[in-house]
Amino acid sequence: MTLYREANAFDLPVFVSLDKELFPYSPWSASQYKEEFSSPTRHFVVAVDEEQTIIGYAGVFAAGGVEADILTVGVVPEHRGKGIAKALMALITDWAISQGSTAMMLEVKTDNLEAIGLYEALGYSKLNVRKDYFGTGLDAQVMRLELS
Ligand SMILES: CC(C)(COP(=O)(O)OP(=O)(O)OC[C@H]1O[C@@H](n2cnc3c(N)ncnc32)[C@H](O)[C@@H]1OP(=O)(O)O)[C@@H](O)C(=O)NCCC(=O)NCCS
Repeated sequence: MTLYREANAFDLPVFVSLDKELFPYSPWSASQYKEEFSSPTRHFVVAVDEEQTIIGYAGVFAAGGVEADILTVGVVPEHRGKGIAKALMALITDWAISQGSTAMMLEVKTDNLEAIGLYEALGYSKLNVRKDYFGTGLDAQVMRLELS
């Protein structure tokens, strides 16, 4: 059974280690996570298994009144294809709506077909491509979902 909860400071080392596995091209450091996590305009959620092990996580930046930015969403390989990312996206989107966000925005690597499939399934539209966004030769597809 998968459970979902708000992230806490004890989860941050797990995020750092999972980032290295899931986002080897742009992992966040411990200090980046600490800074993001301490801001009231950021919200992080986790999915845990029966042993309380983190199997998925997501974060969003929402300042209210404008579009919210998805900071991260990831699910460990063994638990993919079970709707966990969809559930995490629903949680951070609900929080962004509660903050008054008007739309959701994100950048995804142009060759990340699983993630682009996820966002399209949730109704996101493709906007522009940002060249070299994740580093030289690593372009980002910008995607957006209107909330109002
Ligand atoms: C992208 C990722 C978060 C999806 O997690 P997941 O828990 O497997 O996704 P879900 O089971 O919730 O799937 C939701 C939808 O995404 C789409 N999707 C998922 N896997 C897909 C795949 N391999 N190919 C195409 N679409 C896919 C489907 O539309 C799916 O809906 P459906 O099952 O009703 O068809 C996961 O693959 C991951 O962690 N990847 C590495 C980290 C990453 O790249 N994160 C995104 C950064 S922008």
